[in-house]
Amino acid sequence: MESKAIICFLVGTSLLCIRASIIPSSTLDDLLSIKGYHFHTYFDHRNTTNIEEAINFRTSIQERITSGELKECRINFVNFLPRGPHLMGEYETCCNSTSLPAAMSFFIENRGNLSVLFHPLTRWELLDHTKRAMFLGPPVKMDVSILSVDLFDDVDVCGDDEIEYSDINNLIL
Ligand SMILES: *[C@@H]1O[C@H](CO)[C@@H](O)[C@H](O)[C@H]1NC(C)=O
Ligand SMILES: *[C@@H]1O[C@H](CO)[C@@H](O)[C@H](O)[C@H]1NC(C)=O
Ligand SMILES: *[C@@H]1O[C@H](CO)[C@@H](O)[C@H](O)[C@H]1NC(C)=O
Repeated sequence: MESKAIICFLVGTSLLCIRASIIPSSTLDDLLSIKGYHFHTYFDHRNTTNIEEAINFRTSIQERITSGELKECRINFVNFLPRGPHLMGEYETCCNSTSLPAAMSFFIENRGNLSVLFHPLTRWELLDHTKRAMFLGPPVKMDVSILSVDLFDDVDVCGDDEIEYSDINNLIL
């Protein structure tokens, strides 16, 4: 939040006062800091070949996380149907900056036929998914109308709360 303050200086014998904007340092930090990165792997949820490729790829991401190669990444559950801004099947991998170079190389080399959306995580959710986003592979349409312009403090981090989806055998495809 921006607030105004009166700041006075003694110039010679006269007092000079100005009304200045005070931007608290926490706001500056919020503006500058990227809390993490998302890789959204898309697949055609109506096509079993596509689903299979996406699930196999997900297994290899999980193996790299477990082996420590991508130790500051977490993988989330699979959306087998469109959900939120995503109009296709999708799952997300969240990485902190320390694991970003390795993760980027891994996705570039191994995404196969799958499109991957890459974006930063800051309080500016809409911007992160539009101007600041990029695709590996062909771009995929999204519904960005439901995204927030400003998340304030509610920025996602690559925490331990990511849900591990292991029971894919019980799914009805
Ligand atoms: C499913 O996807 C595969 C691989 O992209 C493609 O070759 C195939 O034609 C698709 N099948 C259908 C039914 O769309
Ligand atoms: C990412 O960094 C945050 C903040 O330092 C930390 O709490 C979190 O555990 C890290 N996530 C992973 C997956 O290492
Ligand atoms: C990508 O698609 C091609 C053509 O459909 C297929 O031959 C190949 O196996 C696919 N790649 C992966 C990793 O599934």
